[in-house]
Amino acid sequence: MHQNPHTNIHQPVMLAEVIRYLNPQKGENYLDVTAGYGGHAKVILELTQNYKGSVLVDRDINAIKALEVLFKKTGIELKHQDFLGASKSLLEDNRRFDLIVADLGVSSPHLNEVSRGFSFNKSGPLDMRMDQSQVTSALDIVNKSSEKDLAKILREYGEEPHYRKIANLIVKSRPLNTTAELAEVVKRAWPGYSRTHPATRTFQAIRIAVNDELGQLSQALPIWLELLNEGGRIGVISFHSLEDRIVKRFFASESGNRYDASLTLLTKHPVAPGPHETANNPRASSAKLRSAAKQKQKGNANAYSGKKQLPGI
Ligand SMILES: C[S@@+](CC[C@H](N)C(=O)[O-])C[C@H]1O[C@@H](n2cnc3c(N)ncnc32)[C@H](O)[C@@H]1O
Repeated sequence: MHQNPHTNIHQPVMLAEVIRYLNPQKGENYLDVTAGYGGHAKVILELTQNYKGSVLVDRDINAIKALEVLFKKTGIELKHQDFLGASKSLLEDNRRFDLIVADLGVSSPHLNEVSRGFSFNKSGPLDMRMDQSQVTSALDIVNKSSEKDLAKILREYGEEPHYRKIANLIVKSRPLNTTAELAEVVKRAWPGYSRTHPATRTFQAIRIAVNDELGQLSQALPIWLELLNEGGRIGVISFHSLEDRIVKRFFASESGNRYDASLTLLTKHPVAPGPHETANNPRASSAKLRSAAKQKQKGNANAYSGKKQLPGI
């Protein structure tokens, strides 16, 4: 969600902070589960110099095509897949990494290319799929969901206070085909003044639903922990409180002074971008970085099974 407003080029968010906390070392294996246009990957790989042992994942084919050009002839592995599926298959293949980066959400080209249908500023088709080979798009969610399901999406994924009213008006106004039509309906349902565009929360909610963003994140986090080598570091950049809450809770549940803690927190509190970065890249302003390191295994706690094992009793 982060760009120089004057260009369509994606600027990596909190790059200096990611490098500071993950501290990439020569020879380390790197997994980037949201590689995008390679902003973080390029700098991390220049430090590790380990292309052949590293993997870059993105569910958007345009990002993969850009990565193919950027990392031509390096021997790095690119995966066009969602990160949950990609992480599962890496685990099945018994792969392990020293560094994992997840820079969540959408890229600047997603927001800027009207045809992708992420933005309410210009009218595009109701799409919002990060992976355009996916069947379900915003068009389906907006036009086929029941009013009850729409209200639930708006409340849970958008934290939209007027979820009932908006869901009701969407259903009455169907069929809706464009982002401008949807934004207009939300505006009509919105009572009174809004500091941001009234459709902001609705668009966030529908985008999260289309891409199952929270489901992907909460299911992938334990797999990322499993994919980390002992002493390996993970950094997750989130852009709204729903994502950050999931990361915070997972890191908290896997750290602390307990016998079975598997993570040491490198960021006790989420780290925010500095004023210079937010001035140059306003979309970075909601970013939060959390980072942790995998502890040396104690006793029998060597496999994530969804449940902690009791120590040798
Ligand atoms: C914020 S951008 C990452 C930018 C990248 N770090 C860079 O510096 O160029 C997020 C990228 O992650 C991808 N993405 C988001 N969720 C994903 C998921 N669940 N699985 C795979 N890729 C995902 C998006 O397609 C997008 O390209």
